[in-house]
Amino acid sequence: MQAVVLVGGLGTRLRPLTETIPKQLLPVAGVPMIERVLEQLSSHGVDRAILSMGYLPAAFVSAYPDGIIGGVHVSFAIEPVALGTAGAIRFAGRSGSIDETFLAVNGDVMTDLDVTALIAVHRSKGAEATIHLTPVDDPGRYGVVACDAAGLVTSFVEKPEPGSAPSNNINAGTYVLEPSFFDRVPDATTMSVEREVFPRMVHERTLYAVVDASYWIDAGTPRAFLQANTDILDGTRVVPLPGALTGGALVLEGASVSASARVTGSVLGRDVRVGDGASIVDSVVLEGATIGDRASVTDAVIGPGAVIGADATLLGNCLIGACEHVPERARRSGAAKAA
Ligand code: GTP
Repeated sequence: MQAVVLVGGLGTRLRPLTETIPKQLLPVAGVPMIERVLEQLSSHGVDRAILSMGYLPAAFVSAYPDGIIGGVHVSFAIEPVALGTAGAIRFAGRSGSIDETFLAVNGDVMTDLDVTALIAVHRSKGAEATIHLTPVDDPGRYGVVACDAAGLVTSFVEKPEPGSAPSNNINAGTYVLEPSFFDRVPDATTMSVEREVFPRMVHERTLYAVVDASYWIDAGTPRAFLQANTDILDGTRVVPLPGALTGGALVLEGASVSASARVTGSVLGRDVRVGDGASIVDSVVLEGATIGDRASVTDAVIGPGAVIGADATLLGNCLIGACEHVPERARRSGAAKAA
């Protein structure tokens, strides 16, 4: 089975981190998001994938020069301009000469979905597309989907007005598609699968869906990115780790932590240095960053090579970019872009 993995978005909600690192190369519990996505697909029989890229494509090519990610052989389809989700799937599918049932997934979704079962339902219904739905408490921020008893989608509304959502099941970003999908998207056209293609399929009664409440998170916001990490540290999600957990923290090779520092519920990347009396709680500190003496870091993501000055305070889903310097005693909160 082939998969198209969408990794071409700008990742604006994770700026400034994503100004230099594409979102899917950010590590979740020490392993780049794209590897976690492809390992999961590989466990359900995906053996080839096409990365649908546009933004910072060279970063992927240089990170995986042998073209193998998470055990899957990948090829790279680089869009000349951003084509939106449907245009991107078409561009990648055509470049990989896909001519049979395939998967398309958002590259920032961390899930334990039973992909095998999703494919089986797709085939049994003779569907043109079958999408994974997950139940959430606040469906308004997503594409909300209603189905009949047979799983035929009867309504697909992207970001409905408050109180008008037809269900609490949302489009979870994993699709099984037939090659006829490509005929619905004109060549070199920017088009959205969620806003244009799926609503048309609903009208033509060719779109099916499966509700699966397995672990799922869209790791595209600061809060969700942190949660994708802490869910693994606290055992909510069980996946391989690239090191041992010590006191609820994952400390990767080469990191050095002062004996008087406190680190809980956090990931410290390779060669991170944590100074005397510093506190790091429910945070992610990426490779080579330095946390100054007595600095307090709570619910924050620190970019690779960043330097946090002594006595600084970071909190509230704050993001610090790669190699950024935060002065001594500075206070940074990311509360405004936490959602
Ligand atoms: P934000 O700017 O923070 O909304 O992030 P994003 O740009 O990643 O957008 P979003 O999270 O809605 O995208 C969902 C998935 O589709 C992600 O895996 C993106 O990388 C991918 N994506 C979004 N737009 C495009 C596009 O035009 N081309 C390609 N190839 N992928 C895209």
